[in-house]
Amino acid sequence: MPDLTVLGIETSCDETAAAVVRLDAAGRAEVLASVVASQLEAHAPYGGVVPEIAARAHVEIVDTIIARALDEAGLAFSGLDGVGATAGPGLVGGVMVGLSAGKAIALARGLPLVAVNHLEGHALSPRLTEDLPFPYLLLLVSGGHCQLLEVEGVGRARRLGSTVDDAAGEAFDKIAKSLGLGYPGGPALERLTQGGDPTHFALPRALLGREGCDFSFSGLKTAAARLAETIGSDRDRRDLAAAVQLAIARQLAERTARAMAAYARRRQGRDLRFAVAGGVAANATVRRLLTEAGAAQGFSFSAPPLKYCTDNAAMIALAAAERLRAGLSDGLDAPARPRWPLDARAAAERPLHAVGRKGAKA
Ligand code: KG4
Ligand code: ZN
Repeated sequence: MPDLTVLGIETSCDETAAAVVRLDAAGRAEVLASVVASQLEAHAPYGGVVPEIAARAHVEIVDTIIARALDEAGLAFSGLDGVGATAGPGLVGGVMVGLSAGKAIALARGLPLVAVNHLEGHALSPRLTEDLPFPYLLLLVSGGHCQLLEVEGVGRARRLGSTVDDAAGEAFDKIAKSLGLGYPGGPALERLTQGGDPTHFALPRALLGREGCDFSFSGLKTAAARLAETIGSDRDRRDLAAAVQLAIARQLAERTARAMAAYARRRQGRDLRFAVAGGVAANATVRRLLTEAGAAQGFSFSAPPLKYCTDNAAMIALAAAERLRAGLSDGLDAPARPRWPLDARAAAERPLHAVGRKGAKA
């Protein structure tokens, strides 16, 4: 089996990213280049991502970012075996920019195109730097998503649980906003927790002990916002941030522990592998509680390095390469999809978002 060298393009939210990944005959990935241009400054005055500003910023810079990725990889278009671009879910204006760029390159160079599901990119991201065989249990926690998935292979993911309201990153962002912190709130809130006492303020523990593996953060968000209005001192703000972080991390760990127990039963205790991905996986407390939950049930723990936890194109290039290897590619008429569940069956049987994403990343 020959090596596959694939260009990936990611423009579904507020990062314009391009990367080149090589997949060797044994299925090991090597990131030859990964370039990410964040639009944070363009959106900062609005306290969240503005779709029109995002789409325009992607248009202005996407060609440059692709050229830079190829340059860093030391390759010309002729050195590529395929091109993958995020085709959703995400802000459709931005998705169209990256997908169109990918289609243009595929057409001009006669390369196969892969229309990549952004969630599949996150789901496969631990395989960028680790030899993590299928199947594994994955917690995907980002600004737009909070799901537990059983990843059985490329194009095969079963959803075990999902949030019934906000995503965990969205909760971090919104609570950070009510504490007067800038966007993105997660990292700012984590910094504020330094020296904070997480036991000073009591926060609701949603779904604790409840059956299933779904998540809910809206009660916590409301309670934290109310408390934020009544406090003034720096110490109180630190304590509240610490309490919020611990409450979110605990819920993630508790629901994940349930999914682990069910998964371990189904697999009869064999090959128990757990991975976490998405921007919130950058949070040290979240990682610690998840590691502990996994260790208690005999799971190995994988997490991509931070640069591959948040949005990037290396994970998109990898997903495209793995699909190409499996004989999967897409036509040049592949649509940009604002919504695109990874597990279409679970989404149809148990739709969780009646009204769709509402947060900064929505
Ligand atoms: O994966 P990502 O870059 O974008 C989406 O696809 O959503 O995730 C971004 C999210 C934001 O909500 C951000 O606040 C959160 O990840 N995040 C964090 C941390 N770093 C990023 N949340 C908590 N603690 C962090 N250190
Ligand atoms: Zn993402």
